[in-house]
Amino acid sequence: MVKYSAPTVVKTAAYQDQKPGTSGLRKPTKIFLEKENYTANFVQSIISALPLERKGKVLIVGGDGRFYGPEAVDLIVRIAIANGVTNLTIGQHSILSTPAVSNLIRRRAPNCLGGIILTASHNPGGPDGDFGIKFNIPNGGPAPDAVTNNIYEISKQLGEYKICQDVPTIDLANVGVTEFEVDTIGPVRVDVIDSVEDYVQLMKEIFDFNLLRDFLSSFPVVINAMHGVTGPYVKRIFQQELAQTTPNPNSLYLNTVPLPDFGGHHPDPNQTYAADLVKILKDNPTKYGFGAAYDGDGDRNMLLGAGGFFVTPSDSLAVLAANLNAIPYFNKPNGIKGLARSMPTSGAVDRVGKKLGFTVYEVPTGWKYFGNLMDAGQLSLCGEESFGTGSDHIREKDGIWASLAFLTVLASKKTSVKDLLENHWKEFGRNYFLRLDYENVDGTKANQMIGELEKKIMSTPKEQLTKEIIDAVKTSSIKDPSLEKYKVDATDNFEFTDLIDGSVAKGQGLRIMFANGFGRMVWRLSGTGSSGATIRVYLEKCDDEHVTGDALVVLDDLVKASLAISRLQAVVGVDTPTVIT
Ligand code: G1P
Ligand code: ZN
Repeated sequence: MVKYSAPTVVKTAAYQDQKPGTSGLRKPTKIFLEKENYTANFVQSIISALPLERKGKVLIVGGDGRFYGPEAVDLIVRIAIANGVTNLTIGQHSILSTPAVSNLIRRRAPNCLGGIILTASHNPGGPDGDFGIKFNIPNGGPAPDAVTNNIYEISKQLGEYKICQDVPTIDLANVGVTEFEVDTIGPVRVDVIDSVEDYVQLMKEIFDFNLLRDFLSSFPVVINAMHGVTGPYVKRIFQQELAQTTPNPNSLYLNTVPLPDFGGHHPDPNQTYAADLVKILKDNPTKYGFGAAYDGDGDRNMLLGAGGFFVTPSDSLAVLAANLNAIPYFNKPNGIKGLARSMPTSGAVDRVGKKLGFTVYEVPTGWKYFGNLMDAGQLSLCGEESFGTGSDHIREKDGIWASLAFLTVLASKKTSVKDLLENHWKEFGRNYFLRLDYENVDGTKANQMIGELEKKIMSTPKEQLTKEIIDAVKTSSIKDPSLEKYKVDATDNFEFTDLIDGSVAKGQGLRIMFANGFGRMVWRLSGTGSSGATIRVYLEKCDDEHVTGDALVVLDDLVKASLAISRLQAVVGVDTPTVIT
């Protein structure tokens, strides 16, 4: 075996800003490219946080295909080996979706150290876009706070990193095994694997592919991979596996070639950034029955019905929850253990849990908070309003899985998306929901607004808050707001104690809850942005009788109330959201 020289130690200056956010370290690509050792420092910090027992254990590496990914992979390989990681598995062309990494980690357990995912998720890519590095732990899920805090602490004090300078650059274009020896480290093995294979196997274990094949042969769909990582997965699953017997000539698969800059677009599957998909469905209302789009790294999904009928992620979670028995995976022996949602996600799934007898857990924003419940066997299906849906088949949200799950429900119920939703609302009642995003606003002002708002909602008497809300509602399309309905019942800054390990997450979102389950308003700052700040406002109102209204109209009262109570315009200088979900 060829033998390469022992690792070298490189002196470096620590950075103080490598704190992972809601989902990994995300920054403008330029920072990773231009700040000396910025990537190397963070990679060394992740590796330093790994357990010392590394021999024979594999580290999974892959990413969403964005600019700078392959260079980062090369650096990770060299630094990992230099730190005693002797076994690496990398996706071909450095491509692995986030759900695929989670699956690979779990399939390689217990001999897996975890995975490093090179992605900034739904943020734009390219030299002027964003880059990101995320670490997933051996259960396949995003590193929890204790791990990311440890990585951050290490990064702040880092004085050197170790690197194997002369090992060859791994050929990422071809699937294969490279073996060599490194002085003082020993034998090393690097596998470059097919990016899709293991994930396809998993999907075949979960779903009835024959049912889906039959259904899709006469039900044309439009799938938009948004030039993100899901392209190869869409091709293999929808265009090959599910089109084997009777391909549907009308189905359309868009943007399935991963591009380093996502074609210059924002790879975020919502109605604003996946406008091409929405337009095709709207322009061809009788041709296509279903549309789906995924984000850069494949964990988010947006689902649409014929004519562009929008399914809110909160509703798709509830509909799946009500129909899980249609999916083979959830029948025995797995069964349905429990349901969960992030705090800002609407309570639609709570209604299903209540009626069907499943516990519904509420956790802070971020997928990492679902992992412990899943590991403890208490959670089967969960979701976030931010286009995240998933189950305990892995420990990440999963875009392709969500669309296969939804299609399975459509196939088993033989219904259109709109009818499925409307019948669901008639049966369970409806939670009207809107999320308003004010992106890229001044960080200091955003923090000031949240600070002042917290003081206000916690110290103003509830009657006074109710009065202010009613005054604002009067400026909306609702003409005679009743004190009864808008009565403020409780206010808080959401705090969460993990049921399994007792860890506490504070300051997870300001909430005003109305009496009698009428609805609520929630404010929080995004933890995934790379520059400036993004304010998210979540509005929700429940209705058991009028279930087919338009959320934008129905929630006009709370839109006005949220603006007035938060003093958004006065403090931050904006009042028009950049994205409405
Ligand atoms: C956003 C979403 C959150 C999701 C995260 C990662 O985080 O709101 O639900 O888990 O992206 O995809 P935020 O920017 O709000 O902190
Ligand atoms: Zn993502």
